[in-house]
Amino acid sequence: MKFDAVETGVYPDLVYLPYKSTVKRGPIQAPLRIKAPVPVTRNLQQDARILLPHDADLTRRGQAAPLGEKIVVTGRVVDEDGKPVRNSLLEVWQANAAGRYWHKRDQGHAPLDPNFFGFGKMMTDGEGRYRFVTIKPGPYPWKNHDKAWRPAHIHFSLFGNVYAQRLVTQMYFPNDPLFAYDPIFNSIPDEAARQRLVSRFSLEHTVGDEMLGYEFDIVLRGRDATPFGL
Ligand SMILES: [Fe+2]
Repeated sequence: MKFDAVETGVYPDLVYLPYKSTVKRGPIQAPLRIKAPVPVTRNLQQDARILLPHDADLTRRGQAAPLGEKIVVTGRVVDEDGKPVRNSLLEVWQANAAGRYWHKRDQGHAPLDPNFFGFGKMMTDGEGRYRFVTIKPGPYPWKNHDKAWRPAHIHFSLFGNVYAQRLVTQMYFPNDPLFAYDPIFNSIPDEAARQRLVSRFSLEHTVGDEMLGYEFDIVLRGRDATPFGL
């Protein structure tokens, strides 16, 4: 019997006409199975060479505090049975509060912030939980179509046991008015799956007068699988 790890409609369409670059890069031939050239068996462990001070606090990478709304984002990485995925390396990257990436290819009108670079990384703990502090990213224009603005989002990359295993997704914020107009968000066919990319406001994880909390769980497989491939 064939086992479908993820139900149909959860992963985005590889070619989705409103998302124009997918037309050029989406595969049009059936995938080929290739043999890994090097056996990849070494487990990723928490490693001082991987994690540097303040990697999980994107507000402390510059000389001073960055501009914008400071937030904390936390959640658990779990499998289809809710079992934690422990000691797993997560990377995040995002625009600053004004909607500008610290990257030469982003030449938008929004200002750069000399104290915010928008990149962080962290490991999940024994319960599969990750946590990082950042600035709430702004929406940004991306020229896909007329008045094309991305809803505010944070990019996530999850590594498996080895660097060759990598899943990439995007986290959004509740009640964003741009969801209905965003071809990347809507390249996920299933409405319920789309909503699983939207974080929840969390009073529990809010830190006093300092920052609001958002919770975003990541499920690798099964009925509640998080969409990947965005
Ligand atoms: Fe982005």
